[in-house]
Amino acid sequence: MSANNGLRATPLSAFPVTGPIGVFDSGYGGLTILEQIRSHLPQLDYIYLGDNARSPYGTRSFEVVYEFTLEAVKTLFDMGCPLVILACNTASAKALRTIQQTYLPTAHPTRRVLGVIRPTVEQACLVTRSGHIGLLATPGTVLSASYPLEVGKLYPQLTVTSQACPLWVPLVENGEADSDGADYFVEKYIRLLLERDPLIDTLILGCTHYPLLLGKIMRYVPSGITVISQGGLVASSLCDYLARHRSMAARITQGGTCRFYTTESAEKFSASASLFLHTKVEAQTLRNKSL
Ligand code: DGL
Repeated sequence: MSANNGLRATPLSAFPVTGPIGVFDSGYGGLTILEQIRSHLPQLDYIYLGDNARSPYGTRSFEVVYEFTLEAVKTLFDMGCPLVILACNTASAKALRTIQQTYLPTAHPTRRVLGVIRPTVEQACLVTRSGHIGLLATPGTVLSASYPLEVGKLYPQLTVTSQACPLWVPLVENGEADSDGADYFVEKYIRLLLERDPLIDTLILGCTHYPLLLGKIMRYVPSGITVISQGGLVASSLCDYLARHRSMAARITQGGTCRFYTTESAEKFSASASLFLHTKVEAQTLRNKSL
């Protein structure tokens, strides 16, 4: 007979934890998602984590984005989040599926990680009339082909033309989103995309940083093209998810708080995030063994 009389210990990870929703991005972009989620669900608690020290992710390999994203998810789980939103297309494109299918079932069967691509695709497919959808995204998201693949699963007859915009995230991360110099690169990538498919009538901003360039983007998008920005879509989709998963909804604590963490300078993050969110943000720098 075994030493424990045949009784097997239940792993701690099998007990449902309660806590805040974790929102993760490589940097500031996820704040555009957080802002919308909080305006839809202000009563919930949140933790935002920006991996600014290692941003941008968009030019990194699959392996590296997966490794960094998994580290962030583990950190947010360690902080007590039962649910994590990858508020980053690059992380959603390159890491979400593997985390959901390989990591969660064994390591944290009661926790969930959700991404931003599916709700965006559903909306774009509903909106397009010409059947031609354009995607502006990071090189990583474009290379992953996640958007055309998701669209193809829903409506195989639709066309998706993708344009990588490698300089847009660095413009935002470096506080240049409103500068005159940014116009050159904003115009350039939109023009390149529309030259490749002039029939595009629906344009996905497939990177959570891009709403921070929205004023300039709208200047160069011809009228008649619908621009799909993700914040509101992801927020509605989360509301729907929590309504359908009552046991998860019950595990999100309701204090209306939001804590901010960055892997870079807390001062720098606080200053930029306060500008983006139009409210005072006090971030903390996260220094642990992995992040
Ligand atoms: N906000 C991220 C996204 O949605 C930016 C990626 C990056 O760090 O390059 O893809």
